[in-house]
Amino acid sequence: MPLVAPSLLSANFLELQKDCDLLNRSEADWFHLDVMDGRFVPNISFGPMLISFFRKATQKTCDVHLMIEEPGRYVEAFQQAGADIITIHVEACKHLHRNIQQLKTLGVKAGVALNPHTSVHAIGDIIREIDLVCLMSVNPGFGGQQFIPHTLYKIRELKELINSSGSKALIEIDGGVTLENAPAIVKAGADVLVAGNTVFKAADPLATIAQLKKTGAA
Ligand code: DX5
Ligand code: ZN
Repeated sequence: MPLVAPSLLSANFLELQKDCDLLNRSEADWFHLDVMDGRFVPNISFGPMLISFFRKATQKTCDVHLMIEEPGRYVEAFQQAGADIITIHVEACKHLHRNIQQLKTLGVKAGVALNPHTSVHAIGDIIREIDLVCLMSVNPGFGGQQFIPHTLYKIRELKELINSSGSKALIEIDGGVTLENAPAIVKAGADVLVAGNTVFKAADPLATIAQLKKTGAA
């Protein structure tokens, strides 16, 4: 059974309390929180202040995905805001190893995200240091995009890398996850499914989360 991490980027920001309550009542495992700076990605979302509100609104794991340049300048602010997992992009870090050490020193789980064009081999030398790899299955910046099928190949490659290195990193898939493609994603080796539009645009978000959670069950 995969972990399910609904992305609040697709929530109704005028009724966030309602959407947080819904996730709290659901089988969702994590809150996936997408931070965008308008530089690393062409969109701007929210920062540490909103994360601290989400922190107060849930006991579930706050999985903070930083789509920002020079994340090292901000990770402490996000840890203080209450992040449990902080994921930084390999493409945004000149000194990725140093940034991972920084996350560990702060006492948060360390995640590394890869854009669709970045090979999983880019993280071969740090795979044992991290808790999570987020494979972007769309180009980051917006919810509601189409899943890039090549990601399935990358999941299998990453799984091999993790198994052969003795890493304990979880594989998270982010972007365009639907009820239709979730079985293939989990079969390929994914541990965590991020879902924005699939959950929040569904007629019945609770049932949709429950269905995602059942992915791969006999
Ligand atoms: C994209 C974000 C995703 C996004 C997922 O840049 O990182 O987390 O919100 O949304 P869907 O599931 O709608 O593609
Ligand atoms: Zn994300």
